[in-house]
Formats: sequence, structure tokens, C-alpha cells
Amino acid sequence: MTDSWATFGADLHIDPAGAAGLRAGLMDALREAVRTGRLTPGTRLPSSRTLAADLGIARNTVADAYAELVAEGWLTARQGSGTRVAQRAEPRRAATTAPRSRPVRRRPAYSLTAGSPDLSTFPRADWLKAARRALTAAPNDAFGYGDPRGRIELRTVLAGYLARARGVHADPETIVICSGFVHGLMLMGKVLRQRRVREVAVESYGLDVHGNLLREAGLRTPCLPLDLLGSRTGELAGMRGVGAVLLTPAHQFPTGVPLHPDRRAAAVDWARGAGGLILEDDYDGEFRYDRQPVGALQGLDPERVVYMGTSSKSLAPGLRLAWMVLPHGLVGEVAEAKGEVDWASSALDQLTLAEFIESGAYDRHVRSMRLRYRRRRDQLVAALAERAPALHVSGIAAGLHAVLELPEGTERSVIQAAAWQGLALEGLSRFRHADAEPGGDALVIGYGAPTDSAWTGALEALCRVLP
Ligand SMILES: Cc1ncc(COP(=O)(O)O)c(C=O)c1O
Repeated sequence: MTDSWATFGADLHIDPAGAAGLRAGLMDALREAVRTGRLTPGTRLPSSRTLAADLGIARNTVADAYAELVAEGWLTARQGSGTRVAQRAEPRRAATTAPRSRPVRRRPAYSLTAGSPDLSTFPRADWLKAARRALTAAPNDAFGYGDPRGRIELRTVLAGYLARARGVHADPETIVICSGFVHGLMLMGKVLRQRRVREVAVESYGLDVHGNLLREAGLRTPCLPLDLLGSRTGELAGMRGVGAVLLTPAHQFPTGVPLHPDRRAAAVDWARGAGGLILEDDYDGEFRYDRQPVGALQGLDPERVVYMGTSSKSLAPGLRLAWMVLPHGLVGEVAEAKGEVDWASSALDQLTLAEFIESGAYDRHVRSMRLRYRRRRDQLVAALAERAPALHVSGIAAGLHAVLELPEGTERSVIQAAAWQGLALEGLSRFRHADAEPGGDALVIGYGAPTDSAWTGALEALCRVLP
């Protein structure tokens, strides 16, 4: 590795008066130096303080530029070994007319972003056993196109499981298997438009991909305000034109608040009074730690709620297996919308999941993952109490993520500092609806994704960057 940078600052040729600004100028200069091979992989860069002094610019400007280049994969940053040119940032020594290469996006060493379970815990052996049994027992018609609602074996097993574990009123005839919550939402968007619904209210914090899907279906997505009791469903009555509402009642994503019983009742009252529909996203309902899981809202009125569950958190997102439990009157339209595209999950995967649930392996897996995530949740809370006692953590009763409030104006810099440490983090603001009231600064910390071996390092990196 190269540890000399004696002429580094002077070599960079940045133009402090450049129109794009100092940070952008410095980033361009560094990228160019790597691209042309002037800075070779492994070369250690000077500290931000040294380079700032060298170039006569603010230290923060250098630190920000370094952090962004780490995030882009040009540089790496490790505690104790400083910032270096990444091994994969291949120099291009070719002619100057060669097209500019796009930076290689390098994965950070650690990620505490929300959305994924620990993929290393996928129950391979039990899944394989279930797949073997399912394939052996599969009738010939399992290899055909089949019912667009999905395999009856899985729908039957799910009806029992969802009633027992989530309090869902389910009948195999009203269940439709889909390839993920997003697939179910797309189908609902299509059906709602066909029914001439123009607006679907969404929570003021949520995943933008869900709002985008609804908008692509031609629906407007006004937002429902949110407070410490969950989404203010009482306000639906005043939102003229709204024909459906998308909610995460068991564990609001991402704030982590369970929808208060009064708010659940208000949502159902609105749906009954206005002839509206509630789309219930039960993405992580199985993971509640300190008491019994909050049952599904659907149990309050199965004819007004479309319940949507997924295996993406409980097993793995790569399976692309999810389920909708529909009001009777919607089954035909949803099945038709799905059949038109013929975009279904593999019959063999469906039969395997049915077998996996029926054999008790699903319950065992969920139980063991609940213990594992609960331990992590406890470790996170303990580490924060010790290392950042002034910061409030919330949303910890359930799910695979927590929300950590930050001092005002620090969200962005903490995320950048984390990137600098090789830790991917997301701020709460990233999930805010465009029309929502600005909220406080906070981090959404996904503690589910790291493997056990990465968890301690990720937690330590997090604690190091907290104000
Ligand atoms: C709020 C929320 N809903 C639903 C899902 C699951 O989506 P899918 O089943 O399409 O993987 C996720 C996954 O990250 C989520 O965060």
C-alpha cells in the first residue's frame, strides 16, 4: 500500500472558484486522479484536516467530499487505517477521448437500513425438506398455469395460519397469492382505478415505492397526518374523494407506532360510512417483543379491509411470496387483474411454503427469529442508553427497526459521517410524504439485516457517529 501523499494537495488541481463549488470540485479532482491512475488502489489519502490545510479550504468540505466518495465506492474509510483509494476503483489510463466511466457503487461494510431480515438465517435445511416433500406430493396440475389466485394448498394452510397467528378472518376462497406486497398493491391500484376510485390516502411517512405504484396506476395519494397514536384516521372523513387508505396498523412504517384502538375503529367507521376500503400492510406483524402481537385490523371488518401479508420479513424477500385476504366482492376483480398479466409466484414455491407452514417449520423459524431480533433490539437500546443517553429511541416494541431522534439539523451530517465509517444509514426524512409537515431529525435503524458477525461492528460504527 502506498502511504505517501507529500505532494497530494498541490497535485489535485482543484479550482476553488469553480462554478460547481469547492466540494464538487474536490470530488471531481479526486475521481479524475483515481480514474487516470495518478492515485492507485490502496493509496492512503491525507486526513481531512491535513488536506484542508493544504488546499486552504474548510475541513468539513474535505470530510463531506471524502464521505460521498466512500459512498460512491471510489474510496474506503476504516477506523485506524484512514481513507484509501478503493481496490475496485480501477484506473483508466486510456486515451482522453475514452468515455467517462461511471463510479462503481461499492457496498458499505455495514448496513443498518430498514427493510431486510438477516438473510444468513434463511432456514435452508427445513426449506429443502419442505420442497422435497412438496415436489414429491405435487399433483400433475401443479405444473400447469393454474388458478390466478394461487395454489389451493397454500391458500388453505394460510387461512388457518393467519386466523391463528394474526386474527385474520380468512377463507381459502378469498385469498390471492402474489409475488410480494408490492405486487398486491399494484393489483389493488389497478382494481381501484377500474372502480373509478381517484384517491388513495397514504400515511405521511412510508415507503415512496408504494406511493409511486399507486400514482403510476393513476391514483392521487394525499397524506394522512401521523402522531404518537398512529395515523389520524379520524381525518379520513374530511378527505373528500378518497376511496381507500393504505395503513400499516400493527407497526407503522417507519415510525414504529402501533395504530391506537380508537384510530383502528375510526378507520373502519370511515370505510363503512364512505364505502371505502382499507389496505392493510401487515409487513412485520409476527415480530412483536414485549407482549402478544397486535392482531390484524382486518378482523374488525373483513368486508372493508384488504389484508396483505408477506414472507419478506419472516423468511426472505427473495422468495417473492405474499398473500392478500380480500373482501368477497373483490376476489373476482383481483384474480382477473392478476390473471391478465400471468404474473404469479412459482407453483412449486407455493407448495413448499404450504408444506413449510403445515409442518410447523414456519412457526419455529418465526419464534427463533423473534428471539434473535429481540436480543438485538435490547442490545441496540442498551448501547444507545450508554453511548448516546440524550437521544430518544422509539418504535422498539415490534418489527426489525427503531427510530432514533437526533438533535435538530444533524440528520444529514450523521448519515454522512456514517458513510465515512462504512456504515449505510437512512434518515426519517427519506420516508416523508411530499405534502407532510416537516418532522424532527431522526434515524431509522434497521437492526434486522446484519448477520450476527456484522452486528457488533455495525452497532459500534453507529455509536461512533452519534452526536
Ligand atoms: C412497509 C413495508 N411494506 C411491505 C414490505 C414488503 O414488501 P414485499 O412483500 O414486496 O417484499 C416492506 C418490505 O420492506 C415494507 O417495509
